[in-house]
Amino acid sequence: MDKLIIEGGKRLLGEVTVSGAKNAVLPILAATLLTDDACIIKGAPALRDTNTMLKIIRSLGKSADFDKGVVNVSSTGKKNFVADYKLVSTMRASFCVLGPLIGMHKKAKVSLPGGCIIGARPVDLHLKGLRALNVQTTIDSGYVVAKADKLQGSHIYLGGVYGSSVLATDNVMMAAVLAQGKSVIECAACEPEVVDLAEFLIKMGAKIKGHGTPIIEVEGVRRLHGATHTIIPDRIETGTLMIAALITGGDIILKNARPQHLGALIDKLQEAGANITKSDNSIRVRVKDRIKAINVTTLPYPGFPTDMQAQVMALMSITPGISVVAEKIYPDRFMHVGELNRMGAHIQKEGPYAIIEGVESLSGAPVMASDLRASACLVLAGLAAKGKTLISRIYHLERGYENTEEKLEKLGATIRREKE
Ligand code: UD1
Repeated sequence: MDKLIIEGGKRLLGEVTVSGAKNAVLPILAATLLTDDACIIKGAPALRDTNTMLKIIRSLGKSADFDKGVVNVSSTGKKNFVADYKLVSTMRASFCVLGPLIGMHKKAKVSLPGGCIIGARPVDLHLKGLRALNVQTTIDSGYVVAKADKLQGSHIYLGGVYGSSVLATDNVMMAAVLAQGKSVIECAACEPEVVDLAEFLIKMGAKIKGHGTPIIEVEGVRRLHGATHTIIPDRIETGTLMIAALITGGDIILKNARPQHLGALIDKLQEAGANITKSDNSIRVRVKDRIKAINVTTLPYPGFPTDMQAQVMALMSITPGISVVAEKIYPDRFMHVGELNRMGAHIQKEGPYAIIEGVESLSGAPVMASDLRASACLVLAGLAAKGKTLISRIYHLERGYENTEEKLEKLGATIRREKE
């Protein structure tokens, strides 16, 4: 297991290019299971999670080559309907092969992903949506066993206790594209990655309307064909790098960024005192005067993303004043609080809230990454801290950030990797 070592205190300056979106490439690779034709996916980020999804679709009968951001997917002719525990348990997004498998083959056996460090993460909405499409589901030895004589379009309300679900919307939409008749998914997730998946499905011949709104309409078709698609830029990587600029008092231009996908974050950072200049596909971020304390509540898109909560907390930990972070998607997603406090932050967790009293500075320390976004939070804290920060278990970071060290080094950070 590798460690990251960061010497903090350098202002980050310059330009960097954002990679393709992790949360778009994963369901889009799963969607290639909906056709036997070849598909080409461009702009795919080289991530641990991308490799996991490639392994899964290969195990399900695809051949998939990945080189320089381009994935060429074709069918080997071998059919398998079982997504194994070993692969699904390492990455929750693997569960989104269920929709395509049931849509294409009318049967599937997919391991339940289980909980994870950020919370319970149930799949009841996925199963509710599929059952509405006439799919029978049972749980057997930790697997969802699904079968259907034929998939029948239906009206599905897909909202849960915490609002819409991204991957449940993906799964149900992917099953509905090959169902008979019309489906309406109400309380659908509106995230840009769901829209990107819908755009890919449309290129494959699916009939989908309303994606990007809470009501998605799908008119089932008999078959889908191959397609070529370029993945949208990663809005969470973009946001993380925006905070890297602010937390180091730097000035960064992010290329291949979509400001229109970052409305809530941009609004909050401007309120905090960031100077943000937007163009169609780039964002410049620097500190206007000084950063001020802000309160943040995470919500489904277009609200403030839970995937940016840990990073904004790192920024608030060295911002004078009191900030409150309310986590409304994953009430237990606060593993980074203890590690930030080890670096000298003053953060108190109260149920789904964190109260942050900004300190003058953080001091570098050995810390441990617990999950993907918590790792990004610790990298940001390390960039701002006085002295050396050693982050262990950085495989979490590699799940979702492409070439982190190279990108940050290019911007002037002192960061290196060490084998543990
Ligand atoms: C996706 C993202 C993840 C992000 C999350 C919330 C991918 C690959 N991952 O995860 O990065 O943090 O959205 O924006 O796109 N829920 C239920 N029942 C279900 C499904 C979900 O109650 O059947 C709950 C969850 O526990 C959570 C909320 O709904 O409280 C939202 O989760 P969801 O949108 O499903 O997250 P994912 O799609 O797994």
